Amino acid sequence: MTATPYARVLFAGPDLAEGSFAELFRRQLVALRGEAALADIVDTSGGHDLLWQQVQASERPLLVIDLDPQSSAQHLDWLRSELSGLQAPEQLFAASLLGQYDADPAGAACALVERTELHLACVDVPQLPEHHSWSCIPPHARRLLLCNGPRCTRRGALPLWKSLREQLKAAGKLECAGGVHITRTQCQFPCDEGPTASLYPEGEWYRIRTAEEVVRLVQERIVEGRQVPELLMKP
Ligand code: FES
Repeated sequence: MTATPYARVLFAGPDLAEGSFAELFRRQLVALRGEAALADIVDTSGGHDLLWQQVQASERPLLVIDLDPQSSAQHLDWLRSELSGLQAPEQLFAASLLGQYDADPAGAACALVERTELHLACVDVPQLPEHHSWSCIPPHARRLLLCNGPRCTRRGALPLWKSLREQLKAAGKLECAGGVHITRTQCQFPCDEGPTASLYPEGEWYRIRTAEEVVRLVQERIVEGRQVPELLMKP
């Protein structure tokens, strides 16, 4: 570990408190930065209030490493924008792995700490444009929520997301007028019935286990407009 210009570095992201990812990350981080680094981990699974509190209470200059697996340039803009409202934002910096880490998240995070050229100050954060297509209510007819919570993930939900996008796109129903807006969610609660997919405005709950069942859901429910009783969860 080489010297960096920071008095403190915080590692922030979801699932850093418990579970396999947290166990791996914590073990790797201790190996790289010592036991004391455990105090620099901030789990954001339940929101970011703890992160803001930790930042407020920390010495400056401070670096926040964004470990959110869903991170993106927009997420980093948001994080910087929130940090810019805290005390001494000119001494606050943020950097993101943009969700790009494989089997060595702590190694990737620590490497990013060293790469000061990738750290962004939390001042002069780009504002959202006032007029943009994002500001229009989209013409989707439906919303389909696919659970990527822990238990649905254990039951194979992650690859279903790709299948769902591909099938909807092939059917001309992906996020277009009359089509379906799809969202990955955390736990939707009927975990034992999952992987869970809920469809609105109908309010139907489906159990989708395979790519073949994704094909059926898209073709029969979305394209042909009829329920798929075999895939519906039983009340
Ligand atoms: S984890 Fe998917 S419904 Fe609970």
